Amino acid sequence: MNSINRRSVLLAGLGMAGTGALTAFSGPSGSPTPRPANRAVALEQKRFGTGRTRDFTLTAAPVTLDLGGVTVDTWAYDGRIPGREMRVTAGDTVTAELSSRLPQETVTTIHWHGIALPNPMDGVALVTENGVRPDRNFTYRYVADVPGTYFFHSHVGVQLDRGLYGPLIVEDPREPLSYDDEWVIVLDDWIDGVSTTPDEVLAELTHGMDGTNTASGHVKYPYHLVNGKVPADPDVYTGTPGRRVRLRIINAGSDTAYRVALGGHRMTITHTDGYPVEHQETDALLIAMGERYDALVTLADGVFPLVAVAEGKGAAGLALVRTASGRAPSPDFRPKELDGVVLAASELRAAADVRLPDRETDSVHRIVLTGSMRRYDWAINGVRFDMNHPAANRIPVDTGQRVRLDFVNRTAMWHPMHLHGHTYQLDANGPRKDTTVVLPRKTVSVWFDADNPGQWMLHCHNLYHGEAGLMTMMAYGK
Ligand code: C2O
Ligand code: CU
Repeated sequence: MNSINRRSVLLAGLGMAGTGALTAFSGPSGSPTPRPANRAVALEQKRFGTGRTRDFTLTAAPVTLDLGGVTVDTWAYDGRIPGREMRVTAGDTVTAELSSRLPQETVTTIHWHGIALPNPMDGVALVTENGVRPDRNFTYRYVADVPGTYFFHSHVGVQLDRGLYGPLIVEDPREPLSYDDEWVIVLDDWIDGVSTTPDEVLAELTHGMDGTNTASGHVKYPYHLVNGKVPADPDVYTGTPGRRVRLRIINAGSDTAYRVALGGHRMTITHTDGYPVEHQETDALLIAMGERYDALVTLADGVFPLVAVAEGKGAAGLALVRTASGRAPSPDFRPKELDGVVLAASELRAAADVRLPDRETDSVHRIVLTGSMRRYDWAINGVRFDMNHPAANRIPVDTGQRVRLDFVNRTAMWHPMHLHGHTYQLDANGPRKDTTVVLPRKTVSVWFDADNPGQWMLHCHNLYHGEAGLMTMMAYGK
């Protein structure tokens, strides 16, 4: 049905090098230590436990899936993409038994992206566990103690760019927002099973591209999915005019930032990466790989496109919001909100009750990002990370420290930098996040308290950059 030339996979649109909308990601950096704040709520959330255990099972296996008229062979959890939503209440203990029926020689894991859990549950093969082999299983167990919008995905090689991901929602038992309904929106760039696989894409990228491609390089995905569906057969949310809906938007893509808008509506941003922010109205938002945004909308009367434009790639994902009868817009309709106010995390401020309290910074680490599209030699502090020797490149921290990380981007591309096991604060008053875009040639500083001992990955959530070496390990102790 599709004959995408494999070379064309790599004939990406633009380098996205600080041009166009991605400049909206920018913001001041290098600001002073975060100012005084009240941390009572976050601490209280950490101590709060429901005493309830929620049990889940997931089976990773090969499957043939219909994405809406497009059939692909891929790997997924329980035969569907996204994986079945996991929804718990803050304080619940989660158990998740992962079984594998993946092909021989393949190990797999689940990483609980954004959750500050005990290190052995973090799901990083060769660092926190050996990985689950075919016909074996492993049970993850942790307390989901901070409410928010999260997701889970395989943390082995480029398995995330197959179908091995799903949403994880931690509800707040004392939810301060009021809304009538809530919709989870999972975005993904899709190539697996369309005449190639993510492993082949990675091999092509790292083994050199033909000389004609040097200025480009982003993977050119044949499809962009919303909730596992192509635009020709979109997922449909139905609602009632006047009702207030919380959108939980997750970018599970591997190499694509999305500009998201709901035609005919403005959004009020309430959270990013699970943590509350001072509310801000916008027409559209930019979401990089690994980021999440929550937004409130008040539903209008009609049929509206929820569009996720793949920045710099000239394509988009689509879902529909229907509150009345009427004809759906065509799949390539672009609502005007996409060209209105476009918000990114650097313009947000943490809600007062989750801002880091004021204190001296004990230790500062420069995290220098280098590499080029042409050589595909992405590295941190001059070292290309090798999963087989994770300790060769480590950032030392000690329990109890207030740590600052300075992400210094020396490259011509932007990188969404994700830290496991912690939620840092962006700049002095910015949002609490676990994944932050660092624009080309910019420096971004983040602060956090080292309160979760272990060995934690710190990497670019562009999956191909991370796998090529833009990754390091933050390790507690000597
Ligand atoms: Cu969502 Cu180390 O990843
Ligand atoms: Cu990157």
